[in-house]
Amino acid sequence: MNEQEINRRRTFAIISHPDAGKTTLTEKLLLFGGQIQVAGAVKSNKIKKTATSDWMDIEKQRGISVSTSVMEFDYRDYKVNILDTPGHQDFCEDTFRTLTAVDCAIIVIDGAKGVEAQTRKLMTVCRMRKTPVIVFINKMDREGRDPFDLLDEVESELQIKVRPLSWPINQGQRFKGVYNIYEQRLNLFTPNKQMVTETVAVDIHSKELDNQVGTEDAQKLREDLDLVEGVYPEFDVSTYLSAEVAPVFFGSALNNFGVRELLDCFVEIAPSPRPTQAEERTVEPTEPKFTGFIFKITANIDPNHRSCTAFCKVCSGKFVRNAPYLHTRQGKTVRFSSPTQFMAQKKSTIEEAYPGDIVGLPDNGIFKIGDTLTEGEPLHFKGLPSFSPEMFKYIENTDPMKTKQLSKGIDQLMDEGVAQMFINQFNGRKLIGTVGQLQFEVIQYRLENEYNASCRWEPVSLYKACWIESDDETELDAFKKRKYQYMAKDRDGRDVFLADSNYVLQMAQQDFKHIKFHFTSEF
Ligand code: G4P
Repeated sequence: MNEQEINRRRTFAIISHPDAGKTTLTEKLLLFGGQIQVAGAVKSNKIKKTATSDWMDIEKQRGISVSTSVMEFDYRDYKVNILDTPGHQDFCEDTFRTLTAVDCAIIVIDGAKGVEAQTRKLMTVCRMRKTPVIVFINKMDREGRDPFDLLDEVESELQIKVRPLSWPINQGQRFKGVYNIYEQRLNLFTPNKQMVTETVAVDIHSKELDNQVGTEDAQKLREDLDLVEGVYPEFDVSTYLSAEVAPVFFGSALNNFGVRELLDCFVEIAPSPRPTQAEERTVEPTEPKFTGFIFKITANIDPNHRSCTAFCKVCSGKFVRNAPYLHTRQGKTVRFSSPTQFMAQKKSTIEEAYPGDIVGLPDNGIFKIGDTLTEGEPLHFKGLPSFSPEMFKYIENTDPMKTKQLSKGIDQLMDEGVAQMFINQFNGRKLIGTVGQLQFEVIQYRLENEYNASCRWEPVSLYKACWIESDDETELDAFKKRKYQYMAKDRDGRDVFLADSNYVLQMAQQDFKHIKFHFTSEF
């Protein structure tokens, strides 16, 4: 029974650079899953890129992201779990962490823009974790780039081999459809039709192809497909599953074109829940006992009622409501009487959940990102390392009567993974590191609203925070003495060097050859 449930699950995230069409594609997938009836239902789940300090939008994002953090639906015999990731790049760490809970990913690329910065960054995480990816090249209804050029770019920029499984017939105004290589069918494009795509089984060498798309385009398609077959090795699911090859689809999410083909192929080839690596051992999804880990914590928006939802990915066994589980970091037994699952924008209490599922657990401050739950085994799942932040500011208390509130607030927000905190060893000040300005604004706003604490920021110009280690104690001591003003500790008490420029860092690396400088917290 368990095995059957595991095999039918597909847990994944859609990742892209902002504006490539992630929200639109998500919405179309939900339409196919019958979860929403109208287009437009998921639209608001993002912060408008221009209004960076509009509190309403941030609040909206946080509120909505609780209910749309996971979207589940049944499609054919499969249970599909889409893990939502924030649209705004200032929250990309949240996306990194969500990627620890997925078994595969779909990457959306704008056909006119090609591979963009955020996609590159997210793909680095997929590569680190050997997550299988499928690429969807979107917006084919617009004038874009040559498909072969795009594929070359994906290969070189994302450092993964590609294999097209569909092929576009023209693009922009002249876009006629795609030939589905995977199913060997011709799918004709009809703009603005929301649900229907006409699919015709056509032998590409037959005259029928000419009748359908015209002689010129038929000829071009035959030539393109010949080239595709010549250049790319035949598609082999095992190379996709081992994350060596990314199958590529072309389409237009807005016009609902190529989406069903993507979904049909996806459910067939995408992996069911994979084994999860714990520090102690590898955990197989088919093991009878429940294990899971927390990959995301989201605060609710009601300021008078501070409560969070912790998202737990089930790794093995079966999660059961009210069963006693071991919170391994705290060594405590915990029970959950109202675990939730998510159906588009609805939340409902569940009795049980299987590997691959995401369970929402009410959290009043007991969880940290990365925490493990088991039936008693002292396991610790490996999370994703923290990356060096890109922006740094000292956080200063502006109300001496509220020192306690501030420090509690900071601690809990850091547990949620909102940002990283370092303590400067020279002046004892708390340094907050983020990847974007918006995170500082959210922190300040939440400290005021949820903890009744007030703070101000003091910018510091730093290039990177590097975790340092060495076998040579004397050299490490000498380094720490020389750089005493720039030494800090992370929240786990590890040594961190705050380099204020690339030059300083290079000099340090040159002068202290036995010290290793790491840009991620796990090494
Ligand atoms: P994101 O979540 O990745 O940030 O992207 P989102 O889906 O919000 O799409 C960004 C913009 O691209 C939207 O337009 C959306 O309508 C458009 N778009 C998505 N897919 C396609 C497509 O296949 N073809 C074309 N031509 N456009 C597409 P917008 O103007 O920013 O928003 P809206 O006013 O349409 O809601």
